[in-house]
Amino acid sequence: MFAERVLKYEKHSLIDLAKLAEGFEDVIYLNVGEPDFKTPKHVLDAAKEAMEKGYTKYTPDEGISELREAIAERESRKIKTELTKENVLVTAGSTGAVFAAIMSLVNPGEEVLIQDPWYPGHIRSITLAGGKVIGVSQVEEKNYSIDLDELNEKVTKKTKLLILISPNNPTGAVLDYRTLKGIAEIAMDNNFYVLSDEVYDRFVYDDEFRSIAEVPGMEERAIIVNSFSKTYCMTGLRIGYAVSSKQIIKEMAKVACAASLSVTSIIQYAALAALKGPQSYVEEMVKEYNERRKLIMRKLKEISEVSFVEPKGAFYVFPNMEKLGISSKELVEYLIKEARVLVSPGYPFFGPGGKHHIRISYTVPRNKLETAMERIKQAIEKLS
Ligand SMILES: Cc1ncc(COP(=O)(O)O)c(C=O)c1O
Repeated sequence: MFAERVLKYEKHSLIDLAKLAEGFEDVIYLNVGEPDFKTPKHVLDAAKEAMEKGYTKYTPDEGISELREAIAERESRKIKTELTKENVLVTAGSTGAVFAAIMSLVNPGEEVLIQDPWYPGHIRSITLAGGKVIGVSQVEEKNYSIDLDELNEKVTKKTKLLILISPNNPTGAVLDYRTLKGIAEIAMDNNFYVLSDEVYDRFVYDDEFRSIAEVPGMEERAIIVNSFSKTYCMTGLRIGYAVSSKQIIKEMAKVACAASLSVTSIIQYAALAALKGPQSYVEEMVKEYNERRKLIMRKLKEISEVSFVEPKGAFYVFPNMEKLGISSKELVEYLIKEARVLVSPGYPFFGPGGKHHIRISYTVPRNKLETAMERIKQAIEKLS
């Protein structure tokens, strides 16, 4: 029979969700978790050039030096700390980094604290490692921040790791420095690690992005995971990284090496071009997402049965539909039939905290988004 670790694994693929839309015409897809912009040309050119130069052989397990150095430089600037390439591991997407971190830190039976609603990808790695998922509410009344008292209550002797996502998928919340400092103090007092998923760090609209890794004392216990997927529209190219202490990176590299030896050589050169090249592409894209964010908030305010917390980052909004009196899954099915708009159900994808919610991604152009939101509004009005 198969190993317990795979039998426990539940597959809630957001891609399978698209099957719901089969047979319907003129569907607008607001369920997608990736940017709708093209990969920048200079990034693609760098991959082609690497291929032509014959950079198609194995690379060092941790990634090519130039890329690790460029990542260290970028993250040093971001968290105002001196990092070197020894602090960096290049992985297959940030997912590869999360897997390597969890596999190298969490023993079977140890507890992993995770924000609820959560991102399902993290649950998969915890399950495979035999860890126990402990949800910590993202409190809606507090703009989906974390309540430090609740966090303290959830800590036990078995707590090994806390996973944070800021900016958050699915809520769009961004944790402020005061909260991050409070969380860091709890981690230091109770001796657990913090994995900080920062894949949306460039998608912040009003405030400045801050990382828990900036808090003094966190050097030996924070692991930043980041990605080229969202920032440079490279989701299918599968490249990301982890930044942490040299010791943690050394242990994580064992897992990454066992899984795949290294990341695809030519994609590492593409990622290097992304970091070294012009950043105006990213800035323009984020500006456009901000316009869409404003549009979606304006449209949601027109629907009286729906409440929502203003998203401050990423490209999602997570409205509460409890007043409609149907489950999030039923609502998604209703919206595809009645409005021809596909959104993601809050439950089970995003954990118990997603029960009364749907996740709307604003990853379509504004005119389409406006049409989709108008259709959603009319469909919901029919329900009440
Ligand atoms: C919060 C979060 N982390 C990680 C990922 C996975 O990203 P990657 O393509 O870097 O593996 C996603 C993708 O949607 C995400 O939303």
